[in-house]
Amino acid sequence: MWDVISDKLRQAKKIVFVTGAGISQESGIPTFRGKDGFWRKYDPMKLATIDAFYEDPKLVWEWYEERRKNILDANPNPGHVAIAELEKYKQISVLTQNIDGLHQRAGSSSVYELHGSIITIRCTVCDFNDKITSEFSQIPPLCKCGNMLRPDVVWFGEALPQKVWESAIEEARSCDVMVVVGTSLVVSPANLLPVYARQNGATMVEVNIDQTPMSSSMYLSLRTSAAKALPRLVDILS
Ligand code: APR
Repeated sequence: MWDVISDKLRQAKKIVFVTGAGISQESGIPTFRGKDGFWRKYDPMKLATIDAFYEDPKLVWEWYEERRKNILDANPNPGHVAIAELEKYKQISVLTQNIDGLHQRAGSSSVYELHGSIITIRCTVCDFNDKITSEFSQIPPLCKCGNMLRPDVVWFGEALPQKVWESAIEEARSCDVMVVVGTSLVVSPANLLPVYARQNGATMVEVNIDQTPMSSSMYLSLRTSAAKALPRLVDILS
């Protein structure tokens, strides 16, 4: 599976992973655009935009609360665990589009959450933000300042957290190998990260059960699942 690049992997100092919903699919969390995707049942423009939030905050909050409960019941799968394990052998960072926190729960210590996190909230007006630690007494929940709280996630049309994005570009530009796992690479600007890595001469690898727009430009494109492919990386590097 990885043999063609085993030397490059062993020689690499820094390996950066760009991950999407596909890496959490084997933890039971539906993807967005796959056959079982979330979006099949929901219209993303209804639920993941700032306009939709102000139009119907209750609906958007109910959807995020349903997703948060689903995520809290889920566990990291062998794909997440393998990436965390690799920290024993290589400099690793994870640039994730996922908001589920499973990389951190698997033990990864350098995770950049490009699209925010479903377990934190922030106020729509003041600078309050915090982890969600208990059930909300009302939906939508209100801040101490009296204004509505919102999920601390990046909605379509919103900018990514500036510092996180700048660091993610830095990581992409300074890696020897980039492994793109479980993302359709259709949402920008996250889908630019592999371009930065390739410009820097990194060896590009993709792990995806399907083709993506960048499959043909990868040095190695593994048409298999994250939970199957990533533990094999640990076998090579340990
Ligand atoms: N292993 C590897 N790849 C998988 C697996 C798996 N077990 N299951 C699905 N995939 C692949 C699919 O083939 C698809 O290419 O994962 C990808 C999931 O793509 P999307 O559902 O589009 O998820 P993602 O790329 O993370 O979406 C990006 O879009 O909706 C927004 O903010 C949301 O962060 C999300 C962003």
